[in-house]
Amino acid sequence: MSQASYVIDELISAKSIAARIEDLCRRIRHDFPADEKIVVVGLLRGSFVFIADLVRELGDRDVEVDFLEASSYGNAMESSREVRILKDLRGEIAGRNVLVVEDIVDTGHTLNHVIHMLTARQPKKLKTIALLDKPTRREVDFRADWTGFEIPDEFVVGYGIDYAQHHRNLPFIGKVRFT
Ligand code: IMP
Ligand code: MG
Repeated sequence: MSQASYVIDELISAKSIAARIEDLCRRIRHDFPADEKIVVVGLLRGSFVFIADLVRELGDRDVEVDFLEASSYGNAMESSREVRILKDLRGEIAGRNVLVVEDIVDTGHTLNHVIHMLTARQPKKLKTIALLDKPTRREVDFRADWTGFEIPDEFVVGYGIDYAQHHRNLPFIGKVRFT
């Protein structure tokens, strides 16, 4: 068995991420009424670091945290992809203000599916935020309401995002370069 060797080059620093989260939270505050609770829904597992920083930046708001786990099955021979829900929300979202938090929008299948499913539950408001977006990879017409950074078609890790369950704990976003 051959072991792929690679290095990780920093793409977005921890400092840039923190500054961008401050900007994004200013916009989120504008969109969600100050006197109403926000149900912040993190997509496991990649969003766990982002959601932790987001909710603390929204420390002046009443926030509830819930999680959803979706898994998408890509088939190289097909353009359509199936998304399965592995873990559903614990709480109800009908009539509530919901912010869905994702690490990366890539083909768009995952969030497209999740947003359709959650819309059917009739929340009062449903918004999505993604830390990263790879617009050139899109297969379905999906746009998050807010995006941290648009990036090129590179495989990235860190800040919650993994490569085969490694590197989620890096404090920055790095790109994987095979050597
Ligand atoms: P999609 O938008 O349905 O294609 O899926 C997005 C999901 O694919 C993300 O939530 C990640 O879990 C995963 N993903 C996409 N690009 C990357 C990457 O560069 N590194 C690690 N995971 C990725
Ligand atoms: Mg993911």
